[in-house]
Amino acid sequence: MFTRAVYPGSFDPVTNGHIDLIQRSSALFDEVVVAVLRNTEKTPLFTGEERAEMLEQVAKDLKNVSVTSFAGLLVDFVAEIEASVIIRGIRAISDYEYELQMALMNRRLSSSIETVFMLPAEAYSYLSSKLVKEIAQLGGSIHGLVPEDVEKRLSDKFRVK
Ligand code: PNS
Repeated sequence: MFTRAVYPGSFDPVTNGHIDLIQRSSALFDEVVVAVLRNTEKTPLFTGEERAEMLEQVAKDLKNVSVTSFAGLLVDFVAEIEASVIIRGIRAISDYEYELQMALMNRRLSSSIETVFMLPAEAYSYLSSKLVKEIAQLGGSIHGLVPEDVEKRLSDKFRVK
């Protein structure tokens, strides 16, 4: 059976932890659609377009991975593109409670969609977009935590003008 999976998120910006999960899910599913949430409650540092561009750059060599953006309910988007799986990464037990709540709520909204939790490599278990932004803003090194293109875009954003 052909399985199309959606990997949704804010990706503000994409980190090496996200990339690790994209690679793992690309090996596991027939097709992976990375879906950037456009209208997030949090005010993002990067626009939806910028976030999608950075993801496209990292996914360009993975033939079964595409990048798009969505607004509204995730389950509606998943149904619209005829996918059946939602991928979410769990780094530590602290992620679990929120992820469980979201997965069960999504199941209530659409019982035919399964959420699959995946573990990133241990080296990325403490990595988050939020910390990367904070470190970059305060002038610390984020080398090795995000792709070089993202590193550059972050330093451009926070450069004192
Ligand atoms: O990277 P994030 O911010 O943890 O991703 C959260 C995301 C985008 C998966 C979640 O906020 C989401 O699905 N938003 C879309 C709106 C929606 O469906 N809300 C109900 C979730 S139960």
